[in-house]
Amino acid sequence: MLHLSSVDLKKEKIESLVIPVCEDKDIHDDKTISSLIRKAKKIKEFKGDKGDEVAFYNLPEVKAVRVIFLGLGKLEKVDMEALRAMAGKAVNGVIKKNLSEILIAVPSPKKIKIDMPFVLEALMEGACLRNHLFDKYKKEKKHKPLKKINLLVKPDEARKYSRLSSRVAAVCQGTILAREWVSTPPNHKRPEHFTRSIVTLSRKENLKVTVLDEKELKLKKFGAILAVAAGSLSKPRMVVLEYNPKGAKKTVALVGKGVTFDSGGINLKPSASLVEMKMDMSGAAAVAATLITVAKLKSKIKVVGIIPVVENMPSGNASRPGDIIKSYDGKTVEIGNTDAEGRLILIDAISYVVKKYKTQTLIDLATLTGACVVALGEKIAGTFSFDDKLAEDIILSGEKTHERCWRMPLPEDYKELLKSDFADLNNVSSTRYGGAITAALFLSEFVGDIRWAHIDIAGPAYAKKESAYCGAGGTGFGVRLLCDLLEKL
Ligand code: BES
Ligand code: MG
Ligand code: ZN
Repeated sequence: MLHLSSVDLKKEKIESLVIPVCEDKDIHDDKTISSLIRKAKKIKEFKGDKGDEVAFYNLPEVKAVRVIFLGLGKLEKVDMEALRAMAGKAVNGVIKKNLSEILIAVPSPKKIKIDMPFVLEALMEGACLRNHLFDKYKKEKKHKPLKKINLLVKPDEARKYSRLSSRVAAVCQGTILAREWVSTPPNHKRPEHFTRSIVTLSRKENLKVTVLDEKELKLKKFGAILAVAAGSLSKPRMVVLEYNPKGAKKTVALVGKGVTFDSGGINLKPSASLVEMKMDMSGAAAVAATLITVAKLKSKIKVVGIIPVVENMPSGNASRPGDIIKSYDGKTVEIGNTDAEGRLILIDAISYVVKKYKTQTLIDLATLTGACVVALGEKIAGTFSFDDKLAEDIILSGEKTHERCWRMPLPEDYKELLKSDFADLNNVSSTRYGGAITAALFLSEFVGDIRWAHIDIAGPAYAKKESAYCGAGGTGFGVRLLCDLLEKL
């Protein structure tokens, strides 16, 4: 589906050729392409500004049916994200025309001052990620994804970068898998279903899969997970995925919040907040999709995925505000608010890692707090860690992949706010301020001395509106970030 190809534009018939154009400089090496750009720039309304677009049909210079020019804006503004956005826009435009193939001309790395592997990676990501439509619940499918995405390169480059291209394709596939899970309506992914879907796809990649069902969760005393699940007719699960390559020296554990629907429980959410709460399993989706992807990529590092899956519902069996429960590691927690359920299922999963695995690093991903969205907006994840190096690695991977992460503090004295008069801890803070921080501090009580980071993805996990290379719905945030990060750890 994703190809690096080196066709002769003068000889080969192409359905649509897309040429990215800068406002202030020719960024291509190929003479034919440069001459086409000069032609396009004679059109008054096309300057190569960001968002500019013009198409020519049946030009004499090339055998392409249509040549589409897309503006990238000023050269100094061109970075990997601009390339992703351009490629995404190109693919979307061609899909809307009901075509089935695209060939994108790759700008010269020297001229845009970005190394070739990064240029290719960005173009492939933008194109691949936009080539996904979530229309399985529509009777009438208006459009189809493209069958082939081609990037125009020189013959030696096609060979040189073929491994890179299969890596990027796999990571995008993982991202799309996470998106699909998140966009799936909550009646089609209740804990049993969602778990089954994770298990089926993980087995295909030969991951070691263990599922703890309600009986085992009770037997092993996962009190916090059970308390959150108590109100739902759908039983909780904990999925453990292991990717264990021969000779691996390091282990990283990934924990993902898997609340398939968060009604808030007895502290029921208001109507406006309820509709999007199918996305509350985005951490779980990112973790499961990352494990599936690292298995495909045959990564060198051992990765364990721990995914508690529950539905948070109000009912006669639901946990009440004021209830005191005993978590897996033995600490008692007063449930100050049943809507702070994410941190409850996470502490049991985290304690399980601490007890069972000799892991150097533990990273959890969770749509944990509305407060984090208030602090950082809808596109940036909050990142918490006591370990400067780990925090920095995450932030750098975030910059590279544009899955942006911003470091947040873990002030010791704020722990005060989580005190309970009756139990070891309260699951909510005694003030309404700094909610993302107090949620992270709550988790920190259970990490022992493992090197730990928590990434609050409540904002970027879900998009109400489509953007350059992502449709409305689940964004798959975290998969590209973690795949990049795991290479470094
Ligand atoms: N799943 C929500 C957090 C959330 C909010 C995710 C908005 C995505 C978008 C979480 O379980 C929650 O309800 N958190 C509460 C915590 C509060 C009760 C301390 C919140 O943020 O209001
Ligand atoms: Mg909640
Ligand atoms: Zn939640």
